[in-house]
Amino acid sequence: MPQPLAVADESDAFAVAVRAGLSQPRKIIPARFFYDHAGSELFEAITALPEYYPTRTEIGILTAHAAAIAAAIGPGRAVVEFGSGSSLKTPLLLRAIAPAAYVPVDISAAFLQAAAAALAADFPGLPVLPVAADFTGGFRLPAAVAALPRLGFFPGSTLGNMAPAGAVDLLRHFAAVLGDGAAMVIGLDLAPGPAKSVAMLEAAYDDAAGVTAAFNRNLLHRINRELGGTVRLDDFAHRALWNADLGRIEMHLVAVRDTRFEAAGMAFALRAGETIHTENSYKWTLAEARLLARASGWMPDAVWSDADGRFALHLWRRDDGGLQP
Ligand code: AVJ
Repeated sequence: MPQPLAVADESDAFAVAVRAGLSQPRKIIPARFFYDHAGSELFEAITALPEYYPTRTEIGILTAHAAAIAAAIGPGRAVVEFGSGSSLKTPLLLRAIAPAAYVPVDISAAFLQAAAAALAADFPGLPVLPVAADFTGGFRLPAAVAALPRLGFFPGSTLGNMAPAGAVDLLRHFAAVLGDGAAMVIGLDLAPGPAKSVAMLEAAYDDAAGVTAAFNRNLLHRINRELGGTVRLDDFAHRALWNADLGRIEMHLVAVRDTRFEAAGMAFALRAGETIHTENSYKWTLAEARLLARASGWMPDAVWSDADGRFALHLWRRDDGGLQP
């Protein structure tokens, strides 16, 4: 009897991804595998680093522009947050706009319940209706918000992990899920320019304390721990670089010498200088972000930024697709 090719759990998914990603000439491991327990804690530590400006800058924008954001959005919307709602950002938005309901959507049911309970305690009277689902896949909004206008919330430049074509697919999907009359608040990290140097951007992904390096190298620990791996950790170094042609920060694990290892039942070899590409973090100029919106069923409406031009919070409205010439 042939065995079914089912991906039973996340550890199987990691084995499948490592076998596929490391057995090609340009080796990759998808960035979503950063976030096991240790990796999630390292990411939390990254958001507090002096070099990692996005988190505190986005919080600063939400705080400084709360009144303008509230005026542009208006009260009475059902806020649908795509991904984790554990941050400080959600209460800042909710407090500013007086929504009619809050719908956090997250793949981790346990995490979702804890975050939803904490939020509900802080906002008595606000219906909190968590949906345990992968927000990139099909899911239905709770019936209780069917009659309310929706506001999507997608902070943190989370979209940055997706290449433009995938980003357009996801944003079109959000437009379909959120429905007629929807709006969306999305945080996107800005590309380097006159006010923002490449050096500053690269430092955000290669901090002096080595936390981002540990976050990247955690993938090698995961391979050894979970896939019976024999990776020599000293054979790899963390590298972060700005790819100007493609408009993204790339993170790699670089082999510092020829190295071989086994993992997930396969043997792998890298030559000195060869890399495992582990993350893309796309950065968008304001003009690129407007085009991204237009290409995915949204109309750019407003944008708020910090005084140093590091990060942007965009308000988009669903393109109603009216008659065109
Ligand atoms: C969670 C994808 C927004 O790209 O800045 C931080 C992840 N990687 N440092 C980002 C990350 C290295 C982060 N995102």
